Amino acid sequence: MRHFLTLKDFTKDEILEIIDIGLEIKKNLKSKIYKKELENQTLGMIFEKSSTRTRVSFETGMFQLGGHALFLSNRDIHLGRGEPIKDTARVISSMCDMVMIRTFEHSMIEEFASYSKVPIINGLTDSYHPVQLLADYMTLVEHSASENIVCAYVGDGNNMTHSWMMLAAKLGFELRIATPVGYEVDQTVLADAQELACESGAKIITYNDPKEAVKGATVVTTDTWTSMGQEEEKEERIKIFKGFMVDENMMSLAQSDAKFLHCLPAYRGLEVSEETFEKHSKIVFDEAENRLHAQKGLMVWLDKQR
Ligand code: CP
Ligand code: NVA
Repeated sequence: MRHFLTLKDFTKDEILEIIDIGLEIKKNLKSKIYKKELENQTLGMIFEKSSTRTRVSFETGMFQLGGHALFLSNRDIHLGRGEPIKDTARVISSMCDMVMIRTFEHSMIEEFASYSKVPIINGLTDSYHPVQLLADYMTLVEHSASENIVCAYVGDGNNMTHSWMMLAAKLGFELRIATPVGYEVDQTVLADAQELACESGAKIITYNDPKEAVKGATVVTTDTWTSMGQEEEKEERIKIFKGFMVDENMMSLAQSDAKFLHCLPAYRGLEVSEETFEKHSKIVFDEAENRLHAQKGLMVWLDKQR
């Protein structure tokens, strides 16, 4: 049995296989061929943070695969009132066939997974958001932009950045990360990614000047400057991140056909300008839709590993 906690635990071939399964299921869905590959299975979905895409995509995906998803908000289950993680894990995994968790500390899902009898999927922690990267890479494949990637990530060194680092390190592409001073990525994650990059041939380079990072990039991506849980830092961050907005000036430094990705939700006028967002909205909303298809690929793949 396998869990999906970070891309660090997956080989390049496994990541590509999950995406291929997702693309195949997507093709079948569009041609109205439905395969109930997870018939009668249930996915428990524990949310300790808000969500639009993650909730809708997992719930819809599970239904389309013939199963059922349970939305479990920490406001409604005893986990939110202090029932231990290890007890919650043993109870829920005795009834559900898979569990997706969105939480704060990454150690919470590691502990949950260590007590779980069924696969655990990371639906975002403070440290990683790996399901988003499956959708992001699937989108680059579909938009013929997955060869010779030079990806520039501009913004906060956060869970999305860490997941981009793991994807680059596993698949072997160049990732340039530009953050303001003091908002760099976690140095332990960087060291791990650099070690993996030595094996795959990936290049992971950090900058404090976004223009340097974006120069000649084939993909430009960003994320909110204020992640869930950091709300009280918002005003200060807006001041510090000035100069890190991805706008048409910034995009003009990248390749002329560079793709822009955003995991959403997007804050126009902050990490991305309205103009740049709308210019690239087709690929950004393909990316959002691909959460559904990539995660179906993931759930089918995890089910096969038991
Ligand atoms: N990108 C993403 O995970 O969106 P949600 O927070 O809406 O799930
Ligand atoms: N970095 C953001 C991603 C949201 C999908 C957050 O953690 O809030």
